[in-house]
Amino acid sequence: MYNFDMIIDRHNTHSIKWDSIKENACPPDTLAMGTADMDFEVCSAVAEALARRAAGHRIYGYSTKLKGCDEAVCDWMKKRHGWEPRPEWILNTPGVVCALKMIIQCFTCPDDGILITRPVYYPFMRSIEGNGRRIVNSPLLRDGSHYDVDFDDFEEKIRRNGVTMFLLCNPHNPVGRVWTADELRRMGEICARHHVLIVTDEIHCDFTFAPHRFVPFLVANPHLENEVVVCTAPSKTFNLPGLKYSNIFVPSREKRKKLLDHLERCGITTCNLFGYIACKAAYTRGASWFDGVLKYLKRNSDFFRESMARELPMMVVSELQGTYLAWVDFSVLGLSDKQLYEFMIYDAHVRLDDGIMFGPEGSGFQRFNLGCPRSVIGESVTRIKRAADARGLI
Ligand SMILES: Cc1ncc(COP(=O)(O)O)c(C=O)c1O
Repeated sequence: MYNFDMIIDRHNTHSIKWDSIKENACPPDTLAMGTADMDFEVCSAVAEALARRAAGHRIYGYSTKLKGCDEAVCDWMKKRHGWEPRPEWILNTPGVVCALKMIIQCFTCPDDGILITRPVYYPFMRSIEGNGRRIVNSPLLRDGSHYDVDFDDFEEKIRRNGVTMFLLCNPHNPVGRVWTADELRRMGEICARHHVLIVTDEIHCDFTFAPHRFVPFLVANPHLENEVVVCTAPSKTFNLPGLKYSNIFVPSREKRKKLLDHLERCGITTCNLFGYIACKAAYTRGASWFDGVLKYLKRNSDFFRESMARELPMMVVSELQGTYLAWVDFSVLGLSDKQLYEFMIYDAHVRLDDGIMFGPEGSGFQRFNLGCPRSVIGESVTRIKRAADARGLI
């Protein structure tokens, strides 16, 4: 049995989330609720497999991929999501963000337009601009706590801006939408009509809350197999991002060869031995741990919504269909983005992710990471309420 209520001190463990508190001179008791990893111990299957290899055979030489690793990943996709990819479609990179950059370099040309739907995971923007490509944004339409794709604008932006690639985030970080089969089909149709390559980042695929169900892009659009690259990783589901391991599915043989050659040119030829070991252990023996995590997160999400409604009812909490990241509109406080950041850190002692990082559409918002013991969520809401009262903001 796992105890997700247990608070584990992550200070001084090289955690970006917790150790950046000190590095950024935040008050020492600041609660870290930003960076998207979870404050839960990993499943025993993973911990034991890593410990067994680390201590049992103390040579960490150049390593080949574990036999059965890709099959375990595919088996998970089939059982959990009804998608049947082939093991040979998988290429490995040290992370999905690395893969996005490689894919952009490999399949687009300098100055090409790449479509995104902001607000969206900020490395999408950095990956596009950092590689000399143009961001073409079709902003999501917001209706209170719910977001939709503006399909007319989506097609118009593709048509007018020399777009050759679309970066899809499903489930969507930070707005929490799980795109439906119908929405995915509409995206697919438009992209196919304009010969746009679809790169779908499905790293949050396992985090959805009933009645919402994750639909893999290629389940909704099986005929587009040759026009899609799917990015996944065990790192979100099983809380392993420090192991830097991701599974990138490229069904088209031609595109796979092209990407493999590009990875080779960039020196990305093998992955970390411990990444392989953890990936296989997690996908073969981590299911019941993950089911427990998902149940706990659902209760965290309900608890957060109830606490916000009680303590800070004027803030709009977006509907969390998927991911463990809650997207909250604080614009009613009337603070600039810099003032909002400073209020959260220096008044409330809570470190969240600033909405503005996800694009100008995120101005006035903050993103809460709910992958933590429930008491931390309660404490963060209490602190924000107390600080807002003290400042006379509400
Ligand atoms: C949508 C999305 N893609 C990718 C990542 C990070 O992937 P990786 O750590 O494998 O680079 C995150 C992490 O928060 C994410 O939210």
